[in-house]
Order: sequence, then structure tokens, then C-alpha cells
Amino acid sequence: MKNLASFALAIAATLPAFGNMPAYRDTSKPVEERVEDALARMTLQEKINIIHAQSKFCAPGVPRLGIPELWTTDGPHGIRPEVLWDEWDQAGWTNDSCVAFPALTCLAATWNPDMAALYGTSIGEEARYRGKDVLLGPGVNIYRTPLNGRNFEYMGEDPLLASRMVVPYVKNLQALGVAACVKHYALNNNEVNRHTTNAVVDDRTLYEIYLPAFKAAVQEGGAWSIMGAYNYYKDQHACHNQYLLNDILKGEWGFDGAVISDWGGTHDTRQAITNGLDLEFGSWTNGLSNGASNAYDNYYMAAPYLDLIRKGEVGTKELDDKVRRVLRLTFRTAMDYSKGSGAICSEEHYDAARRIGAEGIVLLRNEGSVLPIRPASGTRILVVGENAVKMMTVGGGSSSLKVQREISPLDGIRNSAAGVASVDYARGYVGDVSGEYNGVTTGQNLADSRTPAELIAEAVEKARNADYVVFVGGLNKSAGQDCEDSDRASLGLPYGQDAVIEALAAANPRTIVVNVSGNAVAMPWVKKVPAIVQAWFLGSEAGNSIADVLFGRANPSGKLPFTFPVALADNGAHALGAYPGTRREGSDIVDLEYSEGILVGYRWHDTKKIKPLFAFGHGLSYTTFGYGKAGVSASSMGADGTITVSVPVTNTGDIAGAEVVQLYISDPECSVERPTKELKDFKKVYLQPGESRTVEFTVRPSDLAYFDAAAHEWVAEPGRFVASIGSASDDIRTSVKFNLK
Ligand code: BGC
Repeated sequence: MKNLASFALAIAATLPAFGNMPAYRDTSKPVEERVEDALARMTLQEKINIIHAQSKFCAPGVPRLGIPELWTTDGPHGIRPEVLWDEWDQAGWTNDSCVAFPALTCLAATWNPDMAALYGTSIGEEARYRGKDVLLGPGVNIYRTPLNGRNFEYMGEDPLLASRMVVPYVKNLQALGVAACVKHYALNNNEVNRHTTNAVVDDRTLYEIYLPAFKAAVQEGGAWSIMGAYNYYKDQHACHNQYLLNDILKGEWGFDGAVISDWGGTHDTRQAITNGLDLEFGSWTNGLSNGASNAYDNYYMAAPYLDLIRKGEVGTKELDDKVRRVLRLTFRTAMDYSKGSGAICSEEHYDAARRIGAEGIVLLRNEGSVLPIRPASGTRILVVGENAVKMMTVGGGSSSLKVQREISPLDGIRNSAAGVASVDYARGYVGDVSGEYNGVTTGQNLADSRTPAELIAEAVEKARNADYVVFVGGLNKSAGQDCEDSDRASLGLPYGQDAVIEALAAANPRTIVVNVSGNAVAMPWVKKVPAIVQAWFLGSEAGNSIADVLFGRANPSGKLPFTFPVALADNGAHALGAYPGTRREGSDIVDLEYSEGILVGYRWHDTKKIKPLFAFGHGLSYTTFGYGKAGVSASSMGADGTITVSVPVTNTGDIAGAEVVQLYISDPECSVERPTKELKDFKKVYLQPGESRTVEFTVRPSDLAYFDAAAHEWVAEPGRFVASIGSASDDIRTSVKFNLK
């Protein structure tokens, strides 16, 4: 009823008004004028109502004024199926299936901002169709440890890469009238103890590593909302945190949008009032069963807030600021009546998912050019492994989806080989046969009672008679793997997969490993197989994207957005024992010191000279690229000038392909410790065989700066710098020096 009434009022708001149309409904007026007008008309109770949820995913708006509800949805890889008003259980709709787009790790691995734009548009259209105003994503928490169960939802270990990729996603999504809710701000870098971890991070590390992607989303992408994280920072929950929200986000960055709590991330009314939270969601995850007739009234920012105001203990200044922000968010989304109606499960969306997937797949190794597979009549391909058949769009936590269709790797390979080669399948290992999340089931029966030895014996037997063996394994979306609310226990592959791979490699020299994961995994067999492909959680078109690469319809051009260490101890956080933290005496709080500081990912490996298994930025192609000598437009740069670094790049192979040309900068003469080098720019260039292009990078003093915590400012120290250009962080092809005056 409430819904219907607000819907009718919202419709009325779109119609020409009789007499004087209130300013807040007049979309020709500036948003700020509308915000002030609406605010002035609202009662105290209405102001309190609009800043907290009325159901699992929706906030009530102001029905009396025709200000509609605000509907949020997960996020970030597709539009979550509808759940009941107050429960996580399925609402049982039959029209809420979606297209699952590749996980954000894959998007980051494309190193192609155009793909991020396509992603934002495609998922935005699906959100529009489903009537959603706020998409809970994208996530840009930095990849600090390969154990983090949620790394698959993020964009890797480098702040510049994540920044470049998040901006077009946000812009294109919001162009459709759907707000991004960039998450989880900030320092939510592992899932274990996610509600109790207190991240202890020095300011330099915070500003150089963990904040830039959020800042870019806000300042360059213009994000309309931000989700506070679950963890603590400086002993305050991130959802109501003076430092992160008031000082940095709203103060330094001038964010004018709404801070939305993570679901259940609000813990204290007074802190919520003063420390920057604007919209409370998900307190007590099972809303109505908290013993009250309407639990939403008991939210921290509901009746308890009203009480404090009525008792005169707090004023309404903060409340008005929160209401303004929620109104602004509503006017930008739910009350943007010019926005389109969107589309769901369109062929364009499947095509986008497939292209992003294929472009993000990373060819890690390809000895003897065993790939691409060139099927001919009589070619026998054996596919092995649970991940070749297991649906991966169900599970993993809040990003779990209900898809209209999902092409498995085995189906993708079969379709590609159809009519030419024969494809056989062996299970190889049994991992997790369940397939359910919040009542969505895959409907697959993956039960297999054979022993590991029997499964290996079958696979090896078949492998001996195959021309190619494609092992598809890796992680999955079950707890303790790539999954929200838990971390992985180790870097190794689960379910005895190493033994299966070793056995296959011994039986067939053309064994190709396709690793499906959102995280680095250990590969003790790395030298024993000729080809390794990093495929991510690729969504609806997974099998087609993988087959496009395996069969050479797509020439791989993905590059790793994070380092694959050989062993866990090679990662900075783990080397220093700085994970998962130490429980404070007499408290629930787990203090987690980010002891490695700015030396995250390749910054650690480079600086400490620890060879990775596969380096940040690594990714092969079916063609080869030659780099000429780097040049620089001037040997020195003024403090407010720029210089151009350029390099000719040539496709030296015989098929068309794309190369991600990466620019790293080193500051060998700095007064503070700096990483050996840092990514400062990249360009993806598409080249025909034999074609050359000169790639140019503009370097600014800000690209040379470090964050001086004492002065609280970015400082570029005059002196010598080195620009190194290469195909990966461990494959620098040319470098050039220049000075900053
Ligand atoms: C997750 C968020 C998600 C929210 C709503 C939380 O548990 O951390 O990422 O958007 O739930 O489902």
C-alpha cells in the first residue's frame, strides 16, 4: 500500500502541475534549490525516516511529498535477485534473473577503461530495468593479501590501475540515473574478523595505497554514494568515522553524496550522528525479528536519534546535512524522470560480458605456443576438472546472482569444437558440490562418490589418448575460498588439484591449465605444464570467453592486476606476520598493523627483490610486441610543467593483438623510502601485424610525488627520476631519465 501510494505520488510529480509546482519537484531547477525546498517542507519525523532503511534494500523517501523510495541492490557484477522485504530469503520472483558480468578482478585485468565504461553502461541498464536507484558497487579495496575472500570483487593491488578502471564504471552507470555506491570505504582488506578488525595504517600508506581509487571514484567519477566498511579505523567503525568520512571524504575531497552504511555496519547512534554516516541499512540483519513491532524504528538513526533531538541532547544540524545528502541522491536517481527504462538480459549485455571476459583473461604461460588450440578433424580434446562444469554465479556472498543463463567452460569448449574436434570430459577431483545461496540454487547435481585415486586414474587414462588436455580448476565461491565473510586458509589449490595436474602433465605434454579464481594461487607444477590461463569468475558468458581465448578467436591481452607470489611468505603482509592481526586484551577488537606500509604487491616484490610466480602487469599474447627506445620531450620538468615520455611499440608477430604498455616511475634520490618503481600510466594499443605506434605518456609533478604525512601534503622532490616502460612490472623494455627542477 505504502509502495503504491508513493508510486502514484512519484508519477504525479512527473505530470505538469496545476498552480504552483513546488520547487523540489521541478526538475528544471538546480538540484540544490530542490534539496533546500524539500528539506524546508519535511517534518522532523520525515527527516528521521529518510535516513534509514524500511526494508532490506530500500529506504522510504517521503510519501507525503511524493519523494519516492530509494531502492538499492547488489552489486557489483549483476543485479541481485529480489529478496523478501525483511529477510535474505528469495522473494520468489520469476522475472529477476540477470546477466552476470565478469567479476571486477577480470575487469581490472583488461587494463582497458573502455571496458569499464561498457561494464557501467551494461549493468546500469540492468539496474534501471529492475527499478534500482543505487548499485552497491563497484568495490575498490586494494588487494593486500591473496587470502582475502573478497578480492574477486575488487580491482587489484595497484591504486592507479583501480582508479583508472573505477572512474568510467561510475560515470557510465550514473549517466543512466543509477548511483554507484563505491565500497567498502575503507581498509576492508580481508574478510576474517571483518567486523572487529581495527586497521592500523600510517597516513602515508593510507593516502598512497588505500585511498586513491576511492578519491578517483569521488572526484573524477563523481560517485553519488559511498559504502562505509565494516572494520574499524582508529578505533571507530568505518561507517561512522570522523577521520575517513568527515575529514577526508567530505572535507578534503568535497564529496556531496551520501554515505551508506554497510549492512549491519552501524553500531552507535551518537557516532552515527556526528561522524559522517547519512543512510543506515541492514542493522540487525534480520530486520523485523528483533523483538519490536517495527525494528526499523529502532535503527541507530531512527527513534534513538529522534529521542536525543527531542531531549535536546543533539541538535538538527547534522540531521539536515544527512537529509540533504539523501535528497540529493534521490533527485539524482529515483527522481530523475528523464532516465531510460533500461534493458535486461539483452544480447548486447551478453556480448559485453563475453567481450570483457575474453579481454580480461590472462595468458600466464604458453611454452611452445601450445595455445591457441587448432582443432582439426580428428583432434581429441579432454577437459578435466570441476570448474569446467560448476556454475560460479551462485555463491560468494552478496555478489551472488540468479542468472538467466551461464555457459560453463565445458560447454564453451564443446561449442567451439563442434563439428571439428571431439571433446571428452573427466571430473578429476570433487570440490564443493553444493550450489545454493540465499535460496537460489544452481540445480546442478555434482555429487560423485569416487575416490581421488579413482578420479585421477580415469582422467589420466583419457589424457593419454588426447591431443590436448584442458584442466579447468582453481577456486570456487564456497566459504573459505573466493567468498565473502571468510578468507582462504592457504595459497594452495584446494581439493587435491595439484596432484591431478601433476598426473595429467605426466600423462600428456599438451596439458593446459585454466585457473578460475579471483585470487593468486600457488602453482608448484608451473614448469611442468606448457600453458596456464588465468580465467576469473567470468559470469554468464564464462565458457564462451574462455573458449574465445583457448581457440584463438580472441588474442589474449589481459594483464594481471595483482602479483602471484610463489609462496604466501613472499607477500609483504604475510612475510611480516601482519595478518590477520592480534586480539586486544579484554576486547573484541583485532588490531591489524599494516606493517608492510606502502610496499603492497609488486612494490614489495620489486623493492625486496623477491621473484614472483607471475608479476603484476604480466600477460602474454599470441603475437609478440617489440619496444623501441624510450624518449623524453625534455630532460627536465618544472614544478608546474609536464614532460612527455614516448616509446614506439611494434606488433612483431603475425596476428593482430593488443599490448598494455606500462609506465613505471622510480625516484632513486628521495629523502624517504620509496618503492623501486610505481605504475603511473598505461595505454592499451591495438596493432595489426607489423604495425608500429608511438605511445605517449604525459608525466606531471604529481606523478612523482609521495605523501608527506607530517606536512599532510603531496611532495615531489626535485632531482632525478627514471621512467621505465614495459610489458609487465618484471618485464621493463626501456627506460629514460629526467629531472624535476
Ligand atoms: C556486504 C556488502 C553488500 C551488503 C548488502 C554486506 O554484507 O559487505 O558488500 O552490499 O551486504 O548485501
